Amino acid sequence: MRRILVTSALPYANGSVHLGHLLEHIQTDIWVRFQRMRGHQCIYVCADDTHGTATMLLAEQEGVSEEELIKRLHAEHIADFNQFHISHDNYYSTHSEENQYYSNLIYTQLMDRGYIYTENVEQLFDPERKMFLADRNVRGECPRCGAPDQPGDNCDSCGATYDARELKNPVSALSNSTPILRNSEHYFVDLPKFTEFLKEYIHNGSQQPEIANKLNEWIEGGLRGWDISRDAPYFGFPIPDTVDKFFYVWMDAPIGYLASFKNWCTKNNVDFDDFWRRDSDCEVHHFIGKDIINFHCLFWPSVLHHSDFRTPLKVHVHGMLTMDGVAMSKSRGTFVLARTYLDFFDPDYLRYYLGARLTSNSSDIDFGSEDFVTRVNGDLVGKLVNIAARSEGFLAKNFDNKLSSELAEPALWQEFVDEAESIAAWYEEGDTRRVVRRVMELADRCNQYLANKAPWQLIKDADRRDEVQGICSMGINLYRTLIGFLKPIIPGLTERSEEFLNAGPLTWENLTQPLLSHRLGTFGRLLNRIDLKTFNKMIEAGAEKPLTDDAAEPESKSEDIQIDDFLKVDLRVARIVQADVVDGADKLLRLRLDVGDHERTVLSGIRSAYKPDELIGRSTVVVANLQPRKMKFGVSEGMVLAAGPGGSDIFLLAPDEGAEPGMRVT
Ligand code: 2FM
Ligand code: ZN
Repeated sequence: MRRILVTSALPYANGSVHLGHLLEHIQTDIWVRFQRMRGHQCIYVCADDTHGTATMLLAEQEGVSEEELIKRLHAEHIADFNQFHISHDNYYSTHSEENQYYSNLIYTQLMDRGYIYTENVEQLFDPERKMFLADRNVRGECPRCGAPDQPGDNCDSCGATYDARELKNPVSALSNSTPILRNSEHYFVDLPKFTEFLKEYIHNGSQQPEIANKLNEWIEGGLRGWDISRDAPYFGFPIPDTVDKFFYVWMDAPIGYLASFKNWCTKNNVDFDDFWRRDSDCEVHHFIGKDIINFHCLFWPSVLHHSDFRTPLKVHVHGMLTMDGVAMSKSRGTFVLARTYLDFFDPDYLRYYLGARLTSNSSDIDFGSEDFVTRVNGDLVGKLVNIAARSEGFLAKNFDNKLSSELAEPALWQEFVDEAESIAAWYEEGDTRRVVRRVMELADRCNQYLANKAPWQLIKDADRRDEVQGICSMGINLYRTLIGFLKPIIPGLTERSEEFLNAGPLTWENLTQPLLSHRLGTFGRLLNRIDLKTFNKMIEAGAEKPLTDDAAEPESKSEDIQIDDFLKVDLRVARIVQADVVDGADKLLRLRLDVGDHERTVLSGIRSAYKPDELIGRSTVVVANLQPRKMKFGVSEGMVLAAGPGGSDIFLLAPDEGAEPGMRVT
């Protein structure tokens, strides 16, 4: 029995699970389920990647602590993955005791061995928020082409990459203030010292060939120190023996693999070191996307090796997911969330479709809507389930659901069974596209057999009725083998089929033993056909509604309203007690309003007229009985009214002009 530890990349704790995550988790889960089906011990761990500026800012925007935010998303992520039958043994968090322990341990080992150095780094600093600005939190004109409003790392307009300090007229996206340059001491892992180690490591078979080539290019181009520290304020672990320095999120994220596994070991009484000591004979496999190979194939093995841990046996790298040929996009709705998908389709459809597309190389994968519908209807329903449906009816009606006592076509059966080892080899190397293709060829073969034998004709002939039992029993046995071959890919359909087959769970071993003189269970509906219309509805449901972040330009309506309509509107005086910019929304502010007996949050498009600080204490009129609206940047519980034509001319009452919060406006 092999002892295998498997991981998927840790999803960030600042967003929901979407199809991109599912591609990876489904790929990993198929591999894991296959190993378990073969009888190996295969432990699958993951966690939320919780640290960093993005989590800190999102928590602030939502007005909750980071701990509250990551707790909510953790529960949401687990629920989503469960629905897709992702069989993690442990889904933990990088904000955990175990992770802090291993982060400190690894850092201290590297420090003691002279692999960490410090250097002064000059960066853009937001003087209002008193924090250094990550590249995505600063905007300015592109230093090459002059395009306005570009982020701090590369230009969307001309594609240039640059240092944030090169931006012209930079503005902090957090406060709208002009950043200044400031120096700070940073901690670096001395990656160049690991060059020789890495040169060997990348050729030890742990990488796919195209990935090893890419890594080789980077190594040959010369490695540079890796900056692993960030200055306060930062949501993360403090670096031991420093003041106000934190581990960069990418330092402790992969250590989260160790932490999640350690947490599982403690609960299950397994020796952590069996898997992670240098000479371990257990296996460690990571599944990741090709956008993060530098972290997993350069930094991570170096850090592990030089702090006395083993390195992963294999890093399985997949390509990126596109939708109908283009990158997933929120506004087009092709950035489909797990939850949105589940409102429309069975999780096995996605697992099957992605399984049918995944190979052992890292080319990108296109999710084609028509292809999806065709494969689900044509392959799963039309070819596979059809075998069971066709055969079962005759057995139920004429033979009391009982299979024949011997195989009618032993040679055909043998043909199917003989495929088990090559199919297993394709699973092992991650080429599920070949698995699916071969299983569908076999399904065609089986359907052909049934068509040639035409049991629907034979049943009319009293002398040949017994043949029908033999033919349909062949159909059911072949169906069972095919479902067994696909079990790691479509666990939901498999489970329903196992119930119907009434012979316990399928394993790689028992799927090659036919069921003879066996009584089947009741046949329920196994799968439904789908259509493109439903797919398009899903895309519509996922698309972000335009204008929700742009309250400054309400649609004009020509019809006058009646006085009764107007009287329904509950207008109240509200005092602004907190005002924050909304990251990514140019016109919006998030206002915390005191409306007398309680406080509420409203998103309002008045950023063009006021800086957040100037608003505190001012009064406004708020529509207090407007149903909360889910907008792109959060929920808004009301609407702020202000005088003025818009732009910089929007007027709110100064603190000394105000009425009391909660007063009704008449
Ligand atoms: O790219 C990402 O989504 C990261 N959160 C992946 C982290 S994987 C590991 F290193 F923790
Ligand atoms: Zn440019």
